[in-house]
Amino acid sequence: RPGGGSPRGLLGFTPVPTSTADDFTVPEGYETQVLIPWGTPIRPGGPRWRKDGSNSAEEQAEQIGMNHDGMHFFPLGNTREGSRRGLLVLNHEYVDQSLLFPDGAEEMTADKVRKALAAHGVSVVEIERRRDGDWHVVDSRRARRVTGSTPVDFSGPVKASHPSLRADNEPLGTLNNCSNGYTPWGTYLACEENWNNYFGTQDPSWTPTASQKRYGVSASGGGFRWHEADPRFDLAANPGEVNRFGWIVEIDPKNPDAKPVKRTALGRVKHEGCTVTESRGRVVAYTGDDQDGDYIYKFVGHGSWRVQRALGRSPLDHGTLYVARFDDDGSGEWLPLEHGTGALTTAGGWADQADVLLRTREAADAVGATKMDRPEWISVDPRTKDVYCTLTNGSGWNSAVSPRKPNPYGHIVRWTERGGDNAATTFEWDIFLLAGDPAYDDQVTLDESNLFGSPDGLAFDDDGRLWIQTDVSNSSQNLASKGYDNIGNNQMLAADPRTGEIRRFLTGPRGAEISGVTFTPDRRTMFVNVQHPGEATTAWGTPTPENPRAVSNWPDFDPEGRPRSATVVVRRTDGGVIGS
Ligand code: FEO
Ligand code: CA
Ligand code: CA
Ligand code: CA
Repeated sequence: RPGGGSPRGLLGFTPVPTSTADDFTVPEGYETQVLIPWGTPIRPGGPRWRKDGSNSAEEQAEQIGMNHDGMHFFPLGNTREGSRRGLLVLNHEYVDQSLLFPDGAEEMTADKVRKALAAHGVSVVEIERRRDGDWHVVDSRRARRVTGSTPVDFSGPVKASHPSLRADNEPLGTLNNCSNGYTPWGTYLACEENWNNYFGTQDPSWTPTASQKRYGVSASGGGFRWHEADPRFDLAANPGEVNRFGWIVEIDPKNPDAKPVKRTALGRVKHEGCTVTESRGRVVAYTGDDQDGDYIYKFVGHGSWRVQRALGRSPLDHGTLYVARFDDDGSGEWLPLEHGTGALTTAGGWADQADVLLRTREAADAVGATKMDRPEWISVDPRTKDVYCTLTNGSGWNSAVSPRKPNPYGHIVRWTERGGDNAATTFEWDIFLLAGDPAYDDQVTLDESNLFGSPDGLAFDDDGRLWIQTDVSNSSQNLASKGYDNIGNNQMLAADPRTGEIRRFLTGPRGAEISGVTFTPDRRTMFVNVQHPGEATTAWGTPTPENPRAVSNWPDFDPEGRPRSATVVVRRTDGGVIGS
């Protein structure tokens, strides 16, 4: 029986309780292994991690980056071989500058900016499961880092030569890679989320354009303060650079010489992820724009992706980008963001398709998209083709798809595309579940076996289990005033959408979110990411250069070390299918 386990449903494990411990817990009968924590050399024999944060920028560029996020396992060989060997590709969303440097985040210097850039981006490592039962990083010509400084190309309607993209430096790097995607042709998609945070200026004459305001670009930036030490990130000195961010970036993990390519036809927003499926040979890619009041997008490729590739074209360069309108009667429509269509005309102030894409959010405003409570990950049910999206939390907007106002706990929305065709332009939607604690909100039907809030990561496995990961912010964690005092550390749950059953599968260490999940083809190894353990929390305080362990010391628990983001390998002690 595929999946095994309980004959009634897909879930066969005993749920774990909530936790506030500095620990990673899994159900009885499961075992874990910490793999590739921040600073691990991507090739055996590479520069070793120094526990005082003193690795140089050059060393960091040959090591695993910080703050692991979206991830995909690309098997090498057939199902059997590929369940023991493959390329693990993962995002490093951002850096915690209080833990990255020996002296913390106070002074910003050009050297520190270079190291911070090297700790961002994507890691590709080759791993194998050996006779000892553990997974190991092996030497591989495919191992590489793509960082904030790696040369990149642009493709699609917005070319690198576009006047808005002109800058003092060549096109470089990818930043704030949150969730991810992967294509049927074997490439990885990194997504640029809160890129506005890296830019700022001390020039008093600089003021943001309307478009920059819409994306949250500001003189003060998001606290990284790189613009104080590197003119590349100064909005006044190098104004085109900021327009090179906000895109989906395609990386070929099997060709270490292939330049990453920014696929501009998929729009410029704060892309949480990019979930690719197919409809009669056409590529369909869903992407959430994670901001309170922003939108859900879908790209539908023109024609068969196989034909496009045979013609030497990227299936992600030619297609239509849509934004979603969720109507209160449970129906919905995909609205095209096409120059010359609807409000997006030359007379309406839109120069061409490149202009529409550079200002995707404003184009979506103009066509009447529906504001959402922070749309994050999107996943497609492999059995029904229904689409699920986490709305992590938010203010609650004036429509039925935002049923709570405010919405501190978040919910998951689900839709069926017309005729089960993911390329369709209309759909029917419903609320799959409301997260939260029934002690504070009697609409919530969760109980102690599955209480959670702020769903973020979301992924179906091939059996149809829906894995849900949480990102309760550290300013809410354990607070009764926010209704989070019974929920504990961030966690991961599994749901069976057919029965509606949900069970808590694991809990993470203090200060961390759980983000990123992928499986071997036999579904007997799961890889999960623990991001930002030790980040400042309300409950446990703030890490300092004197005590970087103030919140967490996971996973090393070295009395002189510091917390590190890491991938955790989860297996069953009996070698069975995870979750069943
Ligand atoms: Fe990077 Fe929206 O989480
Ligand atoms: Ca995150
Ligand atoms: Ca996320
Ligand atoms: Ca999040």
